[in-house]
This record gives sequence, C-alpha cells and structure tokens, in this order.
Amino acid sequence: MNIYKIAVDGPAGSGKSTIAKIIAKKLNIMYLDTGAMYRAIAYKILNKNIKIENINDIVDMMKNTKILFDKDIIFLDGINVSKEIRMPNVSNFVSKVASIKEVREHLVKLQTNIANNNSVIMDGRDIGTVVLKDAQFKFFLNASIKERANRRYKEMIEKKIEVDFDNIYKEISQRDLADINRKESPLAKASDAIEIDTSTMNIDEVVLKLLSIINN
Ligand code: C5P
Repeated sequence: MNIYKIAVDGPAGSGKSTIAKIIAKKLNIMYLDTGAMYRAIAYKILNKNIKIENINDIVDMMKNTKILFDKDIIFLDGINVSKEIRMPNVSNFVSKVASIKEVREHLVKLQTNIANNNSVIMDGRDIGTVVLKDAQFKFFLNASIKERANRRYKEMIEKKIEVDFDNIYKEISQRDLADINRKESPLAKASDAIEIDTSTMNIDEVVLKLLSIINN
C-alpha cells in the first residue's frame, strides 16, 4: 500500500479543506484540518478568559486539552465545537493565537505524531514548509480575495451561521495579512510546492488536477 503525505496550504477560503477532504476520501487516507486545531485553542482561550499575553497559562491549558476529530466533527475536551470554532469571534482572534510560538510547537507536535502513524492529507498554512517538509506532494491553493470571500460567505450560509459579506471580506483580508507577516511559520508557499489558482475553477476541476499530479 502507498504511504501518502500530502500538504495543502493557502490563504483563507482558497478551497483547501473542501479539496483535501475529497482527495482523502478518494485515496482512502486520513484528512487533518489543522486550522480547526488552532481555532479550538483560540476558542478555549476565549472561553476561559485567558489573557493572550499569559503564555504560561496558555501552555498549561493546552497540556490539559484534548482535540479529537470524528469525520467532520471536532471535539474539544469531549464536546462538539464544530460550529462554535467557525464563529466570527474565533475567526477574528485565531491569527493572534496562531502567532504564539508555544501554541505552534504544541500543535505541530500533535500533527507530526498523526503523520508518523498514518497516510494523511493535511491542510493549513505551514504544512509544506514545517509540518510535512518531506511530503511527496505539496500544493499551494490560491484564489482572488473576492472569490475567497464569496466562497466563505456561501459556506457559512449553508452552515446556517449568520454573516455579512463585507465583514467576511474584511476578516479574511486581515487574517491573511496577519498569517503572512507573522514571525513564526508564516503562511508561505514551500519552494517545492505546486501553486494552483482556483479562482475560475470549480471543485471537480481542482480535485482532478491534484489527483492527476498525485497519480502520475
Ligand atoms: O484553515 P483556517 O482558515 O480554519 O485556519 C484558521 C487560522 O489558523 C488561520 O488563519 C491561521 O492563523 C491559523 N493556522 C495556522 N497554521 C495552520 C493552520 C491554521 O497558523 N497550519
């Protein structure tokens, strides 16, 4: 059996998770949504009223935190938080949390442990550059900001989360800026990653493109 390590990076709303999920199913391998892990930690910091400057408390909290995935559901300490972690308060805060070195170290360790034991496709911001540096396949998905905001808007409406298009546009622009400019593992295309602009492609076209490269 083939062992797959596939990295999918890109900015917010570039289609990473939708595409990675479909490819995981087709190849019968595990999918890991690393963004959901950062969101879960951000959500818990907010819930526990921990100050973002209080790194020791954040580290202690993470040591006592269990993040588990079951298909599309994410459990934080045994509770389904799939919807809560997508709420605007978490989206607007998560990049701050993801810029903390200790948070990244903790989550990257969990991610690499998973990758050591499974064939996996992971999506995030630093998968090709840090987490799966040795991945056989690295993709960097991109799309225009307008298209990405549009996709995120539709996704939220489908999930019955009330949102405003202009706010989504602002939120993802600010998040991209923070993710690109942070010191620790910024959002970047790995030098050996294949970049695909998905602005004018539909989901099936992107999936086919990636699969044609993987199966080549
Ligand atoms: O993928 P998603 O948009 O849900 O990610 C939420 C946030 O988590 C990103 O904006 C980024 O700040 C952080 N993140 C990260 N590294 C990853 C995945 C996500 O810094 N590998």
